[in-house]
Amino acid sequence: MPDFRLRSVSHVHKGPVPVQTLQDVDLHVRDGEFVCLLGASGCGKSTLLDILAGLLAPTGGVAEYAGAPIQGPDPARGLVFQDPALFPWRTLLQNVALGPELRGESRRACAAAALDALGRVGLERFASAYPHQLSGGMRQRAGIARALANQPRALLMDEPFGAVDHLTRVALQEELLELWQRERQTVVFVTHDVGEAVFLGDRVVLLSPRPGRIRCIVDVPAPRARVRGQADLLKIEAQIYSLLHDSPSTERLEPAVV
Ligand SMILES: Nc1ncnc2c1ncn2[C@@H]1O[C@H](COP(=O)(O)OP(=O)(O)O)[C@@H](O)[C@H]1O
Ligand SMILES: [Mg+2]
Repeated sequence: MPDFRLRSVSHVHKGPVPVQTLQDVDLHVRDGEFVCLLGASGCGKSTLLDILAGLLAPTGGVAEYAGAPIQGPDPARGLVFQDPALFPWRTLLQNVALGPELRGESRRACAAAALDALGRVGLERFASAYPHQLSGGMRQRAGIARALANQPRALLMDEPFGAVDHLTRVALQEELLELWQRERQTVVFVTHDVGEAVFLGDRVVLLSPRPGRIRCIVDVPAPRARVRGQADLLKIEAQIYSLLHDSPSTERLEPAVV
């Protein structure tokens, strides 16, 4: 079963001044589940996502995917970042075809996979456009399509809509939910926006800072499809804001030097 399981995961950034970024994180993300990691900047959200991606190894504990330790990055676990980092000299099709190309697939198979992925995010008409010709929201969709071209079972998303304007962000959230409801990848979505986390997630994992720890996990039992601003979602948002209010601010704490 392709699920994520973290057992007592800790992480220390080595360096002249070692910093403990994560401590004793236990988390099970079920196949097909949409989980949001929520916390202020510096809580270790990106570190945790990088461990799930296989870009970083835990310095303590075990991180598993589909019952096996995560050894390194794998296209089955697609990554989407705030900056989609598209190559400006490549068309959208060529950018999205990158994964299949790196795996040595034929030119025709690469183009077919990229066109299919662009279609899944509504960008098929822009296949031959260059990144600079697109809006920020379209570039972000292209970043998602690039991950989808590898037919991932899981999507690991690090503040993917953090740099777009509010209304575009709202539209992208809805599109992501539609995609997820059609395809049911497992999604782990990092955000520092309470409303975004509650609107998107089946569960919201609230992280506390220095070192990053799971403070609590809040279920969002509201059925799909959700309407922004519906009463039960607002109630959960209020509950999370009150939890945040009770916890010390990141800014007032020193780094967790070890
Ligand atoms: N390369 C690094 N070396 C040392 N400390 C780092 C490094 N990267 C991040 N950190 C520290 O680790 C903590 C967690 O970082 P990060 O996972 O990026 O948090 P978040 O994504 O929640 O903002 C922060 O305190 C940050 O300053
Ligand atoms: Mg981050």
